Amino acid sequence: MKIFVSGGAGFIGSNFIRHVLQARNNHAIINYDKLTYAGNLANLHSIDDHAGYQFVKGDICDPIVAEAAMRGCDAVVHFAAESHVDRSIYEPAPVIQTNVTGTFTLLEVARKLGVSRFVHISTDEVYGDVAPGAFAGEDSPIQPSSPYSASKAASDLLVRSYVRTYNFPALITRSSNNYGPYQFPEKFLPLMITNALNDKSLPIYGDGKQQRDWLHVEDNCRGILAVLERGKIGEVYNIGGSHVEENLAVARRLLRLIAKPESLLGYVADRPGHDRRYALDSTKIEVELGWKPEISLENGLRQTIEWYKKNSEWVSDVRAGDYRSYYAKYYDNRENSLNAIAGTGSKLPA
Ligand code: NAD
Ligand code: DAU
Repeated sequence: MKIFVSGGAGFIGSNFIRHVLQARNNHAIINYDKLTYAGNLANLHSIDDHAGYQFVKGDICDPIVAEAAMRGCDAVVHFAAESHVDRSIYEPAPVIQTNVTGTFTLLEVARKLGVSRFVHISTDEVYGDVAPGAFAGEDSPIQPSSPYSASKAASDLLVRSYVRTYNFPALITRSSNNYGPYQFPEKFLPLMITNALNDKSLPIYGDGKQQRDWLHVEDNCRGILAVLERGKIGEVYNIGGSHVEENLAVARRLLRLIAKPESLLGYVADRPGHDRRYALDSTKIEVELGWKPEISLENGLRQTIEWYKKNSEWVSDVRAGDYRSYYAKYYDNRENSLNAIAGTGSKLPA
């Protein structure tokens, strides 16, 4: 099978490409990526010379370049997105452009070329806040809270409409919070790990009691491959880690594993519109496709911490440039930048 992977130079996409090329010797991959600040070809150095792998630089909003790259492919796995909730709050326009218009463009190109399967990579954030003790199933209401999750919900609904209207062979995965190697350190776990390793403060939003359902990226990649190969067209599959934990508890776990003091925990102004709890019911993929998460949070974190320790050069490369100004703007002056977004100029509640 020849697979067109969009966003393959990012965190999950690069792990997925490595996973597929290791697990299957009859699959070839075209990695189509714009190389935004989050895309990094260094994530794929280990397979640069693999005969089944090819990189094409392009934007998913560009139908001409995308069509030339997708021609001859049997399937599409669509990861490319602006994926960071905080950035979507500070600057929503590129998020809507890539996540909504980009998905629409790829759907049109794939429909024109007649691909046989299109897996759209979505997120548990489309379900919004999940009540304490509850778990979101595939039929739970779509109630996004941020520009990012609204853009993902919009793209999910577009994909769904293509299945119904055009008989288009699409499937959707909605996974919970991924962590593991090659994750850009703007996201919670790599940020906390790299800060702790450098004795820098760990910025906890609000009271830190928000809950997330943590999933190792390798478990997600196995789930996505199962959906690509054996999922039922038109269906949505949740892929959750079955491990829901408060942010603060996760940060404390990390500090224990890295042997750093809890005095590094620092409380900062909360994210506007912050969802309190995500928790997924993944029974459907477990029963229908025999998938289950295999990596416990404790083991996954140990392995991830080791990876960040060994790859300090990768970290300093991605932390240069755009990331440095992003961090200074939104962490060093957090209260001012949040006030500017709210347009109030008034102090945020403590
Ligand atoms: P990422 O930010 O690490 O990578 C995104 C990739 O997409 C980058 O390589 C970037 O260069 C590329 N890209 C961005 N805009 C593009 C465009 N216009 N054209 C072509 N390429 C473009 O993201 P990630 O964390 O790997 O997430 C991948 C997908 O998984 C996203 O769709 C995201 O919504 C979804 N998802 C992520 C998580 C998570 O925890 N990270 C959980 C659930 C779902
Ligand atoms: O749930 C799936 C989603 O997980 C994906 O769709 C998104 O692409 C991905 O970015 C992630 O979104 P979150 O907003 O949950 O992840 P993030 O790593 O930004 O934050 C995780 C939690 O940690 C969240 O409750 C906010 C909190 N947080 C985050 C950062 C960056 C902090 O307390 N401090 C921080 O500095």
